[in-house]
Amino acid sequence: MEKTKKYVSDIHLEDYTEQYESKQSTADDMIFTGGRKCESLNGSWNYAVDQYDTCIRQKWFKEIYSDSHGFSLPVDYSFDKWPLMELPACWNTVDQMYLLYEGSMVFTRTFTCERKENEEVYLRIGAANYLIRVFINGEYMGMHRGGSTPAFFNITSVLKETNRVILQVDSTRRPEQVPTENTDWFNYGGVYRDIELIYVPKIFIKDFRIALIPDGTFESIEINVEMSSETDAKAVISIPELNIKDEVSITKGKGYLRIKANPLLWSPDNPKLYDVELSCLDDMVTDRVGFREIKVNGREILLNGNPVFLKGISCHEESVPHGKALSDDERIQNIKLVKELGGNFMRIAHYPHHENMAKLADELGILLWEEIPVYWAIRFTREKTYLDAENQLKELINRDYNRASVIIWSVGNENADSDERLNFMKSLADCAHEKDKTRLVSAACLVDFGENRIADRLEASLDVIGINEYCGWYTPDFSILPKLLNNSNPDKPVIITEFGADAMKGYHGGPEDKGTEECQEEVYKQQIEVISKIDYIKGMTPWILYDFRCPRRTSNIQGYYNRKGLLSEDKTYRKPAFYVLQKFYKQSVGADVELNQ
Ligand code: GCU
Repeated sequence: MEKTKKYVSDIHLEDYTEQYESKQSTADDMIFTGGRKCESLNGSWNYAVDQYDTCIRQKWFKEIYSDSHGFSLPVDYSFDKWPLMELPACWNTVDQMYLLYEGSMVFTRTFTCERKENEEVYLRIGAANYLIRVFINGEYMGMHRGGSTPAFFNITSVLKETNRVILQVDSTRRPEQVPTENTDWFNYGGVYRDIELIYVPKIFIKDFRIALIPDGTFESIEINVEMSSETDAKAVISIPELNIKDEVSITKGKGYLRIKANPLLWSPDNPKLYDVELSCLDDMVTDRVGFREIKVNGREILLNGNPVFLKGISCHEESVPHGKALSDDERIQNIKLVKELGGNFMRIAHYPHHENMAKLADELGILLWEEIPVYWAIRFTREKTYLDAENQLKELINRDYNRASVIIWSVGNENADSDERLNFMKSLADCAHEKDKTRLVSAACLVDFGENRIADRLEASLDVIGINEYCGWYTPDFSILPKLLNNSNPDKPVIITEFGADAMKGYHGGPEDKGTEECQEEVYKQQIEVISKIDYIKGMTPWILYDFRCPRRTSNIQGYYNRKGLLSEDKTYRKPAFYVLQKFYKQSVGADVELNQ
């Protein structure tokens, strides 16, 4: 009887998600993972498409199979008999049947866990797009909102020797989300980054931040430590290659230390990394970090005190076979392509990429612009939307703080200047400045075509102004660009964060023929001709390294791809514009050479 009653109520329960809004994993729940004992849960998971959210409506995770009188009950799932999917993955690329599927899927498996008496166990989800709800052994453990940053759940209290985990993932786009339902990229769904168990002692190092203090001396390193409880203790920081082994006093769970050192400075041309170790009580974590300084002085961007021109390119997190679930080899291939261009910089748009992207950029020597998806038509007046955006920003900063390659936090892309938008994005920029004094804050802004100049009120809150302009493409009259740039007088550096043109591989014609390789080549030539003469422009990240899947692009030359790539979507074909940009970048001999000579 009770199940039948419940069954009926489940069907008619309108706000069935309300009960799963509690226990949201946010930036405050993140823990430092470098060098920790981890157990991967990647691999074969049983799964079902759950278009009607029946799992959370009927509470499948409770696994009620009989009523209070012992009568067996009908159930609408068979966890261990469902088909298998290898996770992490974007379901869109796993099976042609799911290419355009957007909604909920349920993933489940069992796992064993042997933890020591004094150990706590966290479940870490590298990223799931867009919402994920976690259930362990019949208990709701919490949820995470945001499709590109990690989630952490302390599952210690519900663990048995053998455990059932259920992940319910909902990839539905919604106007109140960040990004909204309208973007210019493909909405991949799934648990598409690593799933792992993290083992920590009862009192552990929750956060560990280490960086060069940007004071122009290049010889002061600061360490910030946060413990999982308000304990008093002594931590020990060691950097063997710098002969550093110092104590960090921890008071009420927090510790700070400033040390003198003469590290070899990290740069794209010399990506020097140091092994660091921090121990405290029963815990020990490690990291590999580079020490560098990035600052703005007037209209200059200074890397380790030297003016730098950021020779970059924009890049989505996508590959034909894997969607957003790139392999490290694919990330390395993208970085090598930037190096082949003669570049030193990547705008990894429009959302946080995998943490390994910044780790590989540290190792291989590429500067990064990282961004949160405050993209088109965000609900700027909705408080919860702001909190989601701010949480994604804090999660990104927490995750990548120790990455030398990351020099710019971007608080968004291409939204029109309005009072509500200004309030929303100024707050984000202020948050980034408050959370991280060692990096620059920017955003990709629009130009004021009415006044024909760079004039976005958000710029006052930024260290570097990003500008998206498509003169020669969406703005066909190319003569606007030199007038606009010469009519502007920014008091800080500008990066042209987007220009470009669609070109289908093998489609040829004249420079005026939109969609041809020749037209894209001409746009790059004209853009570079103008940009290279503007002394306040200190970088560029043309749109984009390679073609990417995009449901909005349906013309015969696009075929549901945005074709502004310098390479084809499978990265096997370089369009002529690739060589135009390469020639411009290679004419300078290194990262620190001033290009506006
Ligand atoms: C915009 C936007 C990109 C988009 C590009 C385009 O500036 O930032 O995400 O793909 O233009 O129109 O191709």
